Amino acid sequence: MLGPNGAGKSTLLRVISGLHQPSAGEVLLGGRRTTGADPVDLARRGLCLIPEGRGIFPTLTVRENLWMMTYRGVSRAQVEERAVARFPRLGARLDQPAGTMSGGEQQMLALARAIVSEPAVLLLDELSMGLAPRVVADLYATVRAIADEHVTIIVVEQFAAAVLEVADTAAVLVDGRFVASGRPADIAGQLSGAYLGGASAPARDHASSGDGAR
Ligand SMILES: Nc1ncnc2c1ncn2[C@@H]1O[C@H](COP(=O)(O)OP(=O)(O)OP(=O)(O)O)[C@@H](O)[C@H]1O
Ligand SMILES: [Mg+2]
Repeated sequence: MLGPNGAGKSTLLRVISGLHQPSAGEVLLGGRRTTGADPVDLARRGLCLIPEGRGIFPTLTVRENLWMMTYRGVSRAQVEERAVARFPRLGARLDQPAGTMSGGEQQMLALARAIVSEPAVLLLDELSMGLAPRVVADLYATVRAIADEHVTIIVVEQFAAAVLEVADTAAVLVDGRFVASGRPADIAGQLSGAYLGGASAPARDHASSGDGAR
């Protein structure tokens, strides 16, 4: 899900997660209505949101951050083992305060926290924030690998290139409405540089060119 600043991307993820009530419409997960469901209950059932800004606890160690993900009944040893298997670099940093790691390592921890609980649906909000392109490419390669293990993933990004390479479907949100959706290659062709800068006027042009507008 792509779109300029203020389009409503984070808001939509929060609505899906049960953190905001929608003013209209409903949320269906796996065909079942979850509108208004308790966010804690949704999390226990396998819905996992990594919010903007990573959602890790900077003063706690990497290990303590992982231990918090035992709420679905996975043991502490298992969460550590799974996290390190996916991100070996975290193995050497288990006793380090999470906030002292590099930005890329902190984002690895955020992803590790998400996958150790074996989510069914994973919502990622701007994983790339503040990271170098090379680090972002590596993270999205991992996201693709997680998706290939039958986890449904919705990725929000303002900067499209890295995520369009790994996505199956793309959609563009502007002013709270989807103005285009389709195959990533087609959507990439419709994204102007102006939209990526967050200018609202050129972004609205997508409304006329978007084939999947609703
Ligand atoms: N709690 C709130 N109260 C009032 N307005 C809000 C609230 N949360 C978000 N908004 C507004 O709703 C709009 C959409 O915000 P949202 O955070 O969903 O945008 P976004 O697409 O995630 O943008 P960004 O790319 O900057 O993260 C913005 O104009 C924002 O100011
Ligand atoms: Mg946002």
